[in-house]
Amino acid sequence: MSQVWPFPRADVLPPYAFVVTDAAKAKVVARGADLIDLGLGNPDRPTPKEIVAQLHEQADIGKNHRYFPGRGLPALRDATARWYQRRYQAAFDPEREIVITMGAKEGMSHLCLAILKEGDMTLAPDPCYPIHAGGPAIAGSDVEFYRTGTGLSPSQAIKGAIDRVLSRGRRPKLVIANYPQNPTGEVVTREELGRLVSAVEASGAMLLNDLAYADLDFQHRYAPSIFDCGVPFERVKAFAVEAFSMSKSYNMAGWRIATMVGNERMIGALAHLKTYLDYGTFAPLQYAAAWALDHGDQFAEGFRELYRGRAQALVSGLTRAGWPGLDEPRGTMFVWAPIPERFRGLGSIGFTTKLIEDAQVAASPGVGFGPGGDGHVRFALIEDPPRLAEACERIRKFLAS
Ligand SMILES: Cc1ncc(COP(=O)(O)O)c(C=O)c1O
Repeated sequence: MSQVWPFPRADVLPPYAFVVTDAAKAKVVARGADLIDLGLGNPDRPTPKEIVAQLHEQADIGKNHRYFPGRGLPALRDATARWYQRRYQAAFDPEREIVITMGAKEGMSHLCLAILKEGDMTLAPDPCYPIHAGGPAIAGSDVEFYRTGTGLSPSQAIKGAIDRVLSRGRRPKLVIANYPQNPTGEVVTREELGRLVSAVEASGAMLLNDLAYADLDFQHRYAPSIFDCGVPFERVKAFAVEAFSMSKSYNMAGWRIATMVGNERMIGALAHLKTYLDYGTFAPLQYAAAWALDHGDQFAEGFRELYRGRAQALVSGLTRAGWPGLDEPRGTMFVWAPIPERFRGLGSIGFTTKLIEDAQVAASPGVGFGPGGDGHVRFALIEDPPRLAEACERIRKFLAS
């Protein structure tokens, strides 16, 4: 019977970026090949043992096994406020302006569901981390893309999209931004982020900034926050929220925990929705995350150097292997690689499939990140240099064949 009903929320979503080549990967693995899988951005190193020790300790306390308020434990909201104060000199009220989420992906998508409706207009990057376009689409919003990774400045790209929308008689309700950006590795300076924030403010839209790679900007110790971009943070709070995830800074991807701060109404709407949907992340995990925010900068710094080194190793290895036009990323844990000219006709799914079948190396096809990604593939830096060197050697033979 189910086939006679439309499923409007699921039906609007294209196949998820990381599953479209699963069948090709499974076929290669089934024939016993040693696939080097650089597809999903899944940190390969474990969470630092000091953070895991906090989890063990808190898990031994019986009262921590209960339900807790959906907004998140005060201990973690307080630690978030300290983190913002220390890094970005921005003050947040943990009661009203901070909510803890089960990862940034959950928080951002449910924020969209809480504040958007059918017929609204959201501006999202193209290419982008899939939830930046998928979150608004699930909520029924129309999505207007602005291009990333093209050399056009982020504020100009967003201004251009705002103007396009206005010229069609529409108004943008939400703008989603993400720097350092997945998948392109593009970063912004503090000044450029200030221009971007001012452009959104002038348009009257709300802003959602995804700061998942706060610690993975290769030019600066911390990537800039919208709450420390030259526009007074109290003004930015009038229309914006920011998400910070524990996944990449502390290698806690599987723990599912992030924090969102900013505009009281937006945070309140998300927290309100979450009272219906969940009781928050397991309390011991929240205590461990609070400890990481207070004490974890040293680990984040180490992971940043790890990814920077791997990015250099992969880009130089692929360049030597005959892959043209590669640039080192300025941040994140990815290399965004233009598909060599003679394979471009295959499209990114066709090319990735060929790479998997012929070289036993997997990447993510660029089109999985949006229509603007189709000329590229994304390599996740989740292997050490010797294995990356092996991947480059296989690709050298593939390109030469
Ligand atoms: C830009 C961006 N935001 C958010 C996430 C996911 O964050 P979380 O694990 O907290 O859901 C990722 C993961 O790759 C990402 O690339």
